Amino acid sequence: MILVHFAKKVWLKLVYFFCYIIYFFSHPLYMKYYLRYLRWRGMKIHGTPRYISISCWFDGRDYSLIEIGHNAAISSNIRVLTHDYALTRAFVALGVDLKTDVANQLPVVIGENCFIGTNSILMPGCKIGKNVIVGAGSVVRGDIPDNAMIAGNPAQIIGNTLDWGREMRRLLDEGHFAHDPEWWSGRTPRTAANPEPVLPAGTSASV
Ligand SMILES: CC(C)(COP(=O)(O)OP(=O)(O)OC[C@H]1O[C@@H](n2cnc3c(N)ncnc32)[C@H](O)[C@@H]1OP(=O)(O)O)[C@@H](O)C(=O)NCCC(=O)NCCS
Repeated sequence: MILVHFAKKVWLKLVYFFCYIIYFFSHPLYMKYYLRYLRWRGMKIHGTPRYISISCWFDGRDYSLIEIGHNAAISSNIRVLTHDYALTRAFVALGVDLKTDVANQLPVVIGENCFIGTNSILMPGCKIGKNVIVGAGSVVRGDIPDNAMIAGNPAQIIGNTLDWGREMRRLLDEGHFAHDPEWWSGRTPRTAANPEPVLPAGTSASV
């Protein structure tokens, strides 16, 4: 039994290492295996998240407490916390006789089509709705409603994703935004034999 457990741990480490290497070479391949790895660890992943950075840190205490929705994009250096030992210090300060340390353990939900900005911290128990945009460096706690744009510490609502999207749409049509490189997006590289499709007037480029 111990041997099986050990073999599983080694196997998971190897898969993680494999993902870490291919992260630098092929985005589609990386995502394919990294999502498989996270599911093996017990994470609840719905559909196909768009991107999860290899530098994102997930609380390894219980992966099944973490849920990620379809199309979600999780940027670099994010910390997803599902436990908190601060409680133990408070109990010790009160002179409570504890046999072991105790932790508060709560799930974290990242809804469908969310964007989580770099260096954010998702606190235990936070539930982020659909289409939410989290600004860089935010500390997110509690329930965040669908379509909210939030930022800061603690993260507060700064806008609405749909309104912001409508505002940005004009700039997209005017060609203001950078499109991701082909190797990153997984699209077929454009060549003379496979040129960029010409879009009908008034429609936007694919995003
Ligand atoms: C949240 C975000 C999308 C908002 O974009 P935006 O609407 O163009 O932002 P603006 O600069 O107009 O800011 C709007 C307001 O939100 C505040 N704000 C924006 N981003 C913030 C952040 N990360 N932290 C704190 N406040 C922020 C601004 O101070 C401003 O407040 P004000 O109206 O009181 O002046 C963007 O700021 C952001 O953080 N993007 C994430 C970037 C990232 O993580 N990239 C990683 C690589 S993909």
